[in-house]
Amino acid sequence: MNLRFEPSGPLRGTIRVPSDKSISHRAAILGAMASEPVRVRNYLDAADTRSTLTAIQRLGAIVEERGEELVIRGCGLRDALSPTNPIDVGNAGTLMRLLPGWLSFQQGRSFMLDGDASIRRRPVDRIAEPLRRMGAVIEAREGRYPPFTVHGAALGGITYELPVASAQVKSCVLLAGLVTDSTTVIEPVPSRDHTERMLAAAGAPVLREGSLDTGYRTTVGNTDELELDMVDVPGDLSSAAFLIAAGVLVPDSRLVLEGVGINWTRTGFLRILERMGAIVLSDAEPPGEFAPHEPVADVDVRNAPIEGTTVEADEVPLAIDELPLVALLGCFADGETLVRGAQELRVKESDRIASVVDGLRGLGARIEALPDGFAVTGTGGLRGGVLDAGGDHRLALLGAVAGLASEQGVEVVGMEAADVSYPGFAGDVSRLAA
Ligand code: S3P
Repeated sequence: MNLRFEPSGPLRGTIRVPSDKSISHRAAILGAMASEPVRVRNYLDAADTRSTLTAIQRLGAIVEERGEELVIRGCGLRDALSPTNPIDVGNAGTLMRLLPGWLSFQQGRSFMLDGDASIRRRPVDRIAEPLRRMGAVIEAREGRYPPFTVHGAALGGITYELPVASAQVKSCVLLAGLVTDSTTVIEPVPSRDHTERMLAAAGAPVLREGSLDTGYRTTVGNTDELELDMVDVPGDLSSAAFLIAAGVLVPDSRLVLEGVGINWTRTGFLRILERMGAIVLSDAEPPGEFAPHEPVADVDVRNAPIEGTTVEADEVPLAIDELPLVALLGCFADGETLVRGAQELRVKESDRIASVVDGLRGLGARIEALPDGFAVTGTGGLRGGVLDAGGDHRLALLGAVAGLASEQGVEVVGMEAADVSYPGFAGDVSRLAA
């Protein structure tokens, strides 16, 4: 489906963005691992998180919809059922990389995982390697791509220093570590900590040591069962980011985004925007604070002139999914905007260095690809044109925001890709523009 986004008048009003995708995936997976029913309020209704509900049902969990709530009746930690056909993760990288953490200790059972064309290009050796060290047997196409099979085994604890800053890999190892005496994940650069928080809320012994400067060491182990009464999923900062960028770029805009999750490990984009001079207000919680709950706030955005900035490796995991928007903002900023140390972007739903550079260049941007990021020269605006989402939800949404702020509008080819995380984006924009 192609959709045109015309240059917009002021965006004004208050809106609730879709629920957090990362937290929804985790609520479903931990719900499936739990012994008692888990109620989930505001579970994200989008393609990726529907894949997760289908997957856990294939593994034996029961999912009931009760009005605004989902009730998940799990299998218990060690009792996932073995499905006869492969589990289809669709487009969901988080599902593909977290679920094997649980499946790896279902002794005597095997599970094959597969997904769409984009998933088949995304590496799983990053989780296979630590899981093998713990004792699981994993077979993958060409040693590193889906489809792949996890053969459950008795696991031993490891201490694992992450070679890539990835919350998905960290989460996978922590889930597997629940049935070991002790498993520690060391992350030199902090990444989103939703798994740690939810595990702590579910009664697992989670110990986090370290600091922002030294990095964190997180240890789990010896968990008999998980019990998680209720999860209330906040709004997704990564979806909010598209409206925040639109609010900053479209003249005379003022938006309030209600009930957004502002966990510090997710709000790197707000700090980058602040450096660029944008006016975005929220009560972001202090760094390093670790608690079972997820902090939530309203985010207040106004249009403002912005200047270029540099994003370095230590900030990358804290804004990883918002970096395409930093490139777009860079087009409108005064001076140069640089993103470095972000080679992980190459293994997202698309190669997001190539797709962002090609996409924005086609709209008139002065942007260069770097091996590990991009360099943008601000020209104060963007002409517009056609941007092909190439099946990547964040590219589709990037094209849409570019259109709203452009001189001539943008036609997004393949806008349906946005259904993965933000199905109602076009409708939300029309409401805010009315
Ligand atoms: C996610 C972690 C990030 C992010 C993805 C969701 C998660 O991936 O890009 O959209 O929910 O853990 P990595 O941690 O692999 O960078």
